[in-house]
Amino acid sequence: MLQDGKLFVGTSRKPDNSINKPEYLELKFGNRHGLVTGATGTGKTVTLQVLAEGFSNAGVPVFCADVKGDLSGIGAMGEAKDFLLKRAEEIGLQPYDFQEFPVIFWDLYGEKGHRVRTTMTEMGPLLLSRLMNASDAQEGVLNIAFKIADQGGLPLLDLKDLQALLNYMGENATQLSNQFGFISKASVGSIQRELLILEQQGAQHFFGEPALKISDIMRTTNDGRGAISVLAADKLMMNPRLYGTFLLWLLSELFEELPEVGDPEKPRLVFFFDEAHLLFNDAPKVLIERVEQVVRLIRSKGVGVYFVTQNPLDVPETVLAQLGNRVQHALRAYTPREQKAVKTAADTFRPNPDFDCATVITQLGTGEALVSTLEGKGVPSMVERTLIRPPASRVGPLSDAERAGVMKVSPVTGLYDEDFDRESAYEILAARAKKLEAQQQAEQEAAQQPQNGGSRWTLPGFGDDEPTTPSGTAKPKGRSGYQRETVVEAAMKSAARSVANSLGRAIVRGILGSLRR
Ligand SMILES: Nc1ncnc2c1ncn2[C@@H]1O[C@H](COP(=O)(O)OP(=O)(O)OP(=O)(O)O)[C@@H](O)[C@H]1O
Ligand SMILES: [Mg+2]
Repeated sequence: MLQDGKLFVGTSRKPDNSINKPEYLELKFGNRHGLVTGATGTGKTVTLQVLAEGFSNAGVPVFCADVKGDLSGIGAMGEAKDFLLKRAEEIGLQPYDFQEFPVIFWDLYGEKGHRVRTTMTEMGPLLLSRLMNASDAQEGVLNIAFKIADQGGLPLLDLKDLQALLNYMGENATQLSNQFGFISKASVGSIQRELLILEQQGAQHFFGEPALKISDIMRTTNDGRGAISVLAADKLMMNPRLYGTFLLWLLSELFEELPEVGDPEKPRLVFFFDEAHLLFNDAPKVLIERVEQVVRLIRSKGVGVYFVTQNPLDVPETVLAQLGNRVQHALRAYTPREQKAVKTAADTFRPNPDFDCATVITQLGTGEALVSTLEGKGVPSMVERTLIRPPASRVGPLSDAERAGVMKVSPVTGLYDEDFDRESAYEILAARAKKLEAQQQAEQEAAQQPQNGGSRWTLPGFGDDEPTTPSGTAKPKGRSGYQRETVVEAAMKSAARSVANSLGRAIVRGILGSLRR
C-alpha cells in the first residue's frame, strides 16, 4: 500500500460501508502542517504513530512528545493482535507487515531518555517570561537582564547565572537604570523568587550545557529512514508551562537554524505537538502572534508542524488556518462548547455531498476519522470518512528494559549524559566581585598608610612604603585630587567596556527571542 511520495493514512468508506479508496498524505505537502483532534480515547495517539511511521519510512526525521508513555512502542516490532488484524482486513491492507522504528528517546529529566538541555541565553527573554508567567514589569526586567548579558559578554547558561545577574542588577539598580532603562528592585526580587520555584520544579535540569544540537534530532539511519525522537513527557506534563515553553523553544531553534529550502519533495523534519492546548492556554497575545508567525514561516524551511489536541478550539484561529492536513476523530457534542467545537471542526473541511460532517463527527468509531489532506496544487481534498490504518510498530509502551536497550545503542549515547559547567555569568560576576573587593581593600590599605615625613611622595621599592611614623593608626585623609572608585563605578566601567568590546558581535534574537545564528 506504500507509494512513492505519499504515506498511507487509511481507507475511506462509502455511505453503505463499502471500501471507497485509500487516503494518503502527500510528502510534498508534509510541510504544510497538520492537525489531529478528537476526544479522549478516539485514536489520536495511534494516528500520530501511523503518521510518524510513514514519515520515518520516507526518510523524514520526526520529533514528538510522548505524553502518556504509550507512544514509546513505536521503537518495537508490532504484534499480531486481533484488533489490529481486524482493522488491516477491514481496510484491505495486504500484506500487513510489522516493523520497528529507529527511535531516540529524550527526557528533560534524563530518566527515560537522553538529557535535553538548553541555555538561558539560547532561550531568550520572551520564552523565559512565558515560562515564569512574568508580569509586564518582570518581563521588562528580564529584557534588560538579557540586554546586559548579551552586550556584556556574560553567558547566561543555567539558573544560577541568571540569579547572579539579577543579584548584580538589584545591587546596582539605580546606576544600571540610567544606562538600560528602569529596573524595579521589586520586580528583580519577584523574578528571583520565580526562579527558585522553577528550580524546585526541576527546571535546573533543563538549563545548562551541553545544549541540544538540532542536528541530533535530524538524523537518518544508514538504510535511509528518519529517526523518530520521542520526548518522554509524562513527568514533564506536571509542569505544563515548562512543557509548552520547551516545545516552543525547539520550534524556534529549528526556525532560526535551518536554511530556506522553499517547497521540498518531502519535509526535512516533522514536529508533532501533542496536548497542543498547553502551548496556547493563557498565552499572552504577543506570544500567540509570534507562534503564528513561526508556524507560517517555518514551512519554507521544510519543517511540518502537526498539532494534536482534543478540541480544535484549543488552537488559535490564525494557526488553525495554516494546518493543511487534517485528521478529525470523534468529538462529543453535549455542552454548548462541545457543539461549537464540532461545528468549527466540520466547517473547516471541504464538504462531501455523501454526508453531513457535523453529524458524522459525533458518530465516528475508535480509530476512525474525517480525513482531508492537501492534493493537486495544494488544495484540501474532499473530506472522507476514513478508517485509520493499524500501526506497524507496537501499540502500547516499551518496558523499562526495552527502553534501556534502545538508549544503549542510540547514536547520541554519551553526548548529553553529563552536565558541563563552564565559566559563565555566575562565575564571571563572582570573580569580578572578588577582584573588586581585593582592589577596594588594597586601596583602603594604601589610603591608610601614613604620609611620609609630611611629604606626599613615596619612593616605591625602597622600603619607605612601610609605615614609618608613630601616627600609623591615625585615620588617613584622602589624597588630594584622588577619589576612590566605588564598587559600582568600577562595575559600570567594566560593563561599559564589555559593551564596547562586543559591539562587533552583538547578539541578534529571532522571532521568539532565541538566538539567531
Ligand atoms: N487506527 C487504529 N487501529 C486499530 N486500533 C486503534 C486505532 N486507533 C486507535 N485504536 C485503539 O484505540 C485505543 C485508543 O487510541 P489512542 O490511544 O490513540 O487514543 P487517544 O485519542 O490518543 O486517547 P487519549 O486522549 O486518551 O490520549 C488504542 O489503544 C487502540 O486499541
Ligand atoms: Mg493519546
